[in-house]
Amino acid sequence: MSTGGEAWDRRFSEHEWSQDPDPFLIELVQGLPPGGALDLGCGPGRNAIWLARQGFQVTGVDSSSVGLQQAQARAGQAGVTLCLVAADLMEYQAEDASFDLVVVANIHPGPELLPEILAKAARALRPDGHLFVVGHHLDALGHDGPPQEELLYTEERLLTAVPPSLTIERLETVPRGGPDRSEHWHDKSVILWAVRRPDPALP
Ligand SMILES: C[S@@+](CC[C@H](N)C(=O)[O-])C[C@H]1O[C@@H](n2cnc3c(N)ncnc32)[C@H](O)[C@@H]1O
Repeated sequence: MSTGGEAWDRRFSEHEWSQDPDPFLIELVQGLPPGGALDLGCGPGRNAIWLARQGFQVTGVDSSSVGLQQAQARAGQAGVTLCLVAADLMEYQAEDASFDLVVVANIHPGPELLPEILAKAARALRPDGHLFVVGHHLDALGHDGPPQEELLYTEERLLTAVPPSLTIERLETVPRGGPDRSEHWHDKSVILWAVRRPDPALP
């Protein structure tokens, strides 16, 4: 898989990336006690920084050096510390059962690699730890998100990528800007909120 690190470097250099955390991550994480969080493909760190401000100890992984530099700088401005790792997600190995929360936000690796990334995320979770996934819905094709239709999400596509070690608590198509925002009809995300089953033998 090409990590697209240079392409993301260019995008992050040329365009200001949102600093607002995902509204559904905010909703779902509220009520969880802070712990260790892993943000796979953290980019300039909007979710990682928000989690750190809530008291989580956050590790962010990304292959874009510009994204990681921006995350580092913004974390400093916000007065929080992130552990940032420059790596391809397909090569990065978190210690098994070491995180309470894993975030996979707006990564669109396609149908072959998404199951691998979610399995990696599930292995990194402690029993009862949570996985949050968000990505552009297929209806956004041509409007937002990646321009290849096979990379976009539907609930069915995401469902087939979820490993057996996770229990799904929410799998929904949602308005991208959050529950209270009126959006264009195509401006939708798919979100997944799942919890790690206690049995360590499950893949
Ligand atoms: C659309 S941005 C999302 C950034 C952040 N998660 C957010 O929601 O704002 C996609 C990010 O995923 C990273 N990424 C995509 N594929 C990757 C891979 N295979 N290894 C490491 N990083 C990857 C890119 O470098 C980029 O920072």
